[in-house]
Amino acid sequence: MKNTVSTLLKQKQSGDKITMLTAYDYTTARIMDECGVNAILIGDSLGMVMLGYENTLPVTMEDMIHHTKAVAKGAENAFIVADMPFMSYQVSVQDAVINAGRLIKEGNANAVKLEGGAEVCEQIRAIVNASIPVVAHLGLTPQSVNAFGGFKVQGKSIDKAKKLIQDALLIQEAGACAVVLEGIPAKLADIITKKLFIPTIGIGASAGCDGQVLVYQDMLGLTTGHVPKFAKRFANAGDVMRQGISDYISETKAGIFPAPENTYAIDDEVIDQLVKEEV
Ligand code: KIV
Repeated sequence: MKNTVSTLLKQKQSGDKITMLTAYDYTTARIMDECGVNAILIGDSLGMVMLGYENTLPVTMEDMIHHTKAVAKGAENAFIVADMPFMSYQVSVQDAVINAGRLIKEGNANAVKLEGGAEVCEQIRAIVNASIPVVAHLGLTPQSVNAFGGFKVQGKSIDKAKKLIQDALLIQEAGACAVVLEGIPAKLADIITKKLFIPTIGIGASAGCDGQVLVYQDMLGLTTGHVPKFAKRFANAGDVMRQGISDYISETKAGIFPAPENTYAIDDEVIDQLVKEEV
């Protein structure tokens, strides 16, 4: 069954937790869809985990459309959410609607996600008015890394916590269909989740959120270097890949690969003829 805005809302109402993972390509999206994940996010985290950038800021609309198309082809049932990259919605409401439209029309996404609270409500309203579902994103919003002075947990002081609650209510009022809560204290995430009728999807937030999202390279053990503590490692796919690649290198060098079962046969008469004719 296809996951939609309505099924996600029903999951919040019934207490059935929403599962979301990032994906950036057809093959990974297909596997996730087969496993029954509710939603797939083509995050602008692709800048870091697929393109090797230091942060998400250089990601372009073309990058997002390219990867969204591939994911949408691989996912039959998951709700497809595409991130709006840095500067694709901040400058004007018109830009925001045009770029959201491109992610739906050219990328085949079901919804777009953008970062921010009060300051992007006008954009949310306009995109929703164009019949495009919007997922909001509050807390440690990575596109604000320079403004935050690093990837730091948000909402710890009374003023900042109040602002986050206010922003959550405002984006809901503007028409967002869900909100990602990233890098905020667990108890604050619980308060926001209780106050909203739209689903909250946590990452570094709390189990009390209506759903969870993780970057798949983090949760499958493909990321090297620092991994935040919320990114639980559910498998060690990096080690499986390292082993497979090392085996390929050593078997190829030893002449073990390809074995007869990995090659194609030809009639002996053809070979005899070739030899006779000294081709
Ligand atoms: O870009 C991304 O992957 C995200 C998630 C971390 C929520 O926004």
